[in-house]
Amino acid sequence: MSQRTDAALYLKRDKRYFLLNNHPTAVFTPIVSATAHWWQSGVIYQIYPRSFRDANADGIGDLRGIAETLDYCAALGIDALWLSPIFPSPMADFGYDVADYSGIAAIFGTLEDFDDLLTQTTRRGLKILLDYVPNHTSNQHPWFAASRSSRGNSKRDWYLWHDAAPDGGPPNNWLSNFGGSAWEWDEATQQYYYHSFLKEQPDLNWRNPEVVAAMHEVLRFWLRRGVAGFRIDVLWLLIKDDQWRDNPPNPDYKPGMPLFHSQHPLYTTDRPENQDIVARLRAVVDEFDDRVLVGEIYLPLERLVAYYGKDLRGVQLPFNFQLLQTPWDARSIAGLIDRYEAALPVGGWPNWVLGNHDNPRIASRVGAAQARVAGMILLTLRGTPTLYYGDEIGMHNVPIPADQIQDPLEKNVPGKCLGRDPSRTPMQWDASPHAGFGDHDPWLPIAADANENNVAIEDRDPRSMLSLYRRLLELRRQHAALSMGSYQPVVATGALLAYVRYTLAEQLFIVANLGAQPAEFALQSVGRAQSLLLSTYLDGGTHLTESKLFLRPDEAVIIALVPPTPDSP
Ligand code: GLC
Repeated sequence: MSQRTDAALYLKRDKRYFLLNNHPTAVFTPIVSATAHWWQSGVIYQIYPRSFRDANADGIGDLRGIAETLDYCAALGIDALWLSPIFPSPMADFGYDVADYSGIAAIFGTLEDFDDLLTQTTRRGLKILLDYVPNHTSNQHPWFAASRSSRGNSKRDWYLWHDAAPDGGPPNNWLSNFGGSAWEWDEATQQYYYHSFLKEQPDLNWRNPEVVAAMHEVLRFWLRRGVAGFRIDVLWLLIKDDQWRDNPPNPDYKPGMPLFHSQHPLYTTDRPENQDIVARLRAVVDEFDDRVLVGEIYLPLERLVAYYGKDLRGVQLPFNFQLLQTPWDARSIAGLIDRYEAALPVGGWPNWVLGNHDNPRIASRVGAAQARVAGMILLTLRGTPTLYYGDEIGMHNVPIPADQIQDPLEKNVPGKCLGRDPSRTPMQWDASPHAGFGDHDPWLPIAADANENNVAIEDRDPRSMLSLYRRLLELRRQHAALSMGSYQPVVATGALLAYVRYTLAEQLFIVANLGAQPAEFALQSVGRAQSLLLSTYLDGGTHLTESKLFLRPDEAVIIALVPPTPDSP
């Protein structure tokens, strides 16, 4: 039975329920049972460990620093911390080049520090997700050292080696995400190796069963220690074409775009064999209780949802980055939500993201006023939200002077504005030196407005962005309609985005004004207003009558509707 029919029948059968309005593209999302997994009702908070809190005064954040912030994290109201890589690494790509999957980088601390952090997070009811980087290792990983030592080495086939083309050049036209050819010549053994990213990040050969087994053991190592799951790096890239065919040109490529986009990565990404690899990763995680896999996947919706897997045996949360990529206007976003809800497989649980360490900060993309609206949308749409550290206090991109650039992508592909440093700057805790991040000049500059824009100041301001996020997270806990409820779009025009989240017990109506003009909304199509639960203004100034809502510029609200009585038509 399709998702649509299922829910429509449910609505018909239950007399207490009625169709809220006649939305032309409405997809009725199923009402979920009360036994939700923690990763469905919960909220994930991404920490970029280099930039969260520096406890040992070396300018780089660390695990003990994170441990010092746990009261803050718990009070914020999130459920799980996802830590970007903390493993030993030469840091060519700031930890996404792992030299030992079962250790902790000295700059971040020790395994003991990690276990201690885990104990302290558990004590506060929080969980930890680690970053699993299966596509590539560091070129300093002992596996690669062995692999490149000779053609006859038993680990030679753990990576992707290939003879040169007849002219001595790379075996085919495959390009690196970080600029130039993806093939690097190895003088000693007279072959090329493949790297999707930096040449310091050789790709593993996931067709080799020994690689698969070794990487499965990595998962078990951390699962046994007690982590709640993993965010998986570049999940859609793991398998490459075994016939090494050239990628076709991208017909939409325009001069001036990064070279990488000149091709359609048909033979290097999202290969059919990848699905089996993903299902096997899931099987390993399922050896343990209630753990989760979140997949980093930048693909169009119809391909993204394939990563839920056959019979939902893939990753539980294939990251949905659509809010990062869709123009910030109400009609585009309404269309996106419809398309996403419609594309989800039956039983597939949605998720939403507004920012991460690879993308510009939401406050810089949409402006400070709309960032509040964006926060409310993120935390009221159906599905698991992932927050990026600092977005809850409205941190914006920090301009990085040329001589302080750190990001290898920016260094490799200069002038294309690809740099990711601006969204990776130190967390702004208070107005003390280095914004309370630590006692040393930090590895990236601190925002110029950190004295006014920080946790300590926002903590005391009942109308701050931080107060808004705390209130939203609190409402998600109090109202199952927000965390687990069904979703129904509501017809709206112009700059308004509107939808209802509901359970059998309550209906919450969310309306967001994505424009800079005031706007009105007549409530009769959704019911009668009972009370205003929250406005992004946090000032009690919203004008709401039983039948009409008057929104100010850049205002979004959550309204409790009068519940339908059993006799409602
Ligand atoms: C992912 C990470 C990014 C990293 C890349 C290569 O996209 O999020 O930061 O550079 O993988 O590992």
